[in-house]
Amino acid sequence: MSQVQGTVEQKPSQKSIYQKLRDAVAAVQGRTSLKPEVGVILGSGLGSIADELTEGVAISYSDIPHFHGTSVEGHSGRMVLGRFHGVPAVFLQGRFHYYEGYPMDEVVFPTRVISALGIQTLVLTNAAGGINTRFRPGDLMLIEDHINLMGDNPLKGPHLAELGPRFPDMSEAYNRGCVSVIAAAAAEESLSVHRGVYAGLLGPTYETPAEVRMLRAMGADAVGMSTVPESIAANHLGVQVAGISAITNLAAGASPNRLTHAEVIENSRECAEKMALILKRAVPRLSKSVAARPAERRAPEARQE
Ligand code: HPA
Repeated sequence: MSQVQGTVEQKPSQKSIYQKLRDAVAAVQGRTSLKPEVGVILGSGLGSIADELTEGVAISYSDIPHFHGTSVEGHSGRMVLGRFHGVPAVFLQGRFHYYEGYPMDEVVFPTRVISALGIQTLVLTNAAGGINTRFRPGDLMLIEDHINLMGDNPLKGPHLAELGPRFPDMSEAYNRGCVSVIAAAAAEESLSVHRGVYAGLLGPTYETPAEVRMLRAMGADAVGMSTVPESIAANHLGVQVAGISAITNLAAGASPNRLTHAEVIENSRECAEKMALILKRAVPRLSKSVAARPAERRAPEARQE
């Protein structure tokens, strides 16, 4: 981040975000010289996938400046850097949710930090409720698009010109090439996966059955409380994004049972096994499938100035 320099006079609030990023990146780079090519954010109950990293260094969020601990069961709060089936990668075990009360710029801070470490591809994973009536608990859905129903946007506020454009294009928020790579990896493992639209809601309540009917009518296939801010922040930085939802439960109203976080965590473990098989094949290809991006859309750390 030493290359982050203002091209225009910056307001103090902008400077502080850049400074925070520099602090966090310096702390991580002080622990490892690994240059990750792919980043993976692991959602509720999916953290064990990072156990497959070799030659890894695990850094507790409490040791990274400006990171918070995670308060949600099923999220351990560590950044793990290492080789994932040969590819230099960084995994985040645990994320900050908007429903925890963090402002959006803090929710996306880890995304910006791992982007500044130089990743070209970010794989976002989450636990989600199945809205599409064909979905069953334990299924996986490759995210093709999202609907932001969080009532906020991480890019709201002063224009962070060093990070990306004022009005970022979101017409391919989930890179089509990445979706194809992950679908092919699933097929090679004889795993069938769905594709669909993820609706991101604020939470922390699960939805009402009426809300689920509304979401279905809107064209959503799965619903959750994360991912959307991270996808926006990564797209803003020009990092290509892939997303996989673990369908941990049928969304409210689709099942006679009441929803509990314990059920979500339990079913996400089954999904984690499938996801690990898919990522094992997909991540090495995702590190290679990056199309050349114009320099002005890259994460600041990757920019040659
Ligand atoms: N709704 C919202 N978020 C979720 C759900 C759900 O049904 N399941 C897991 N995360």
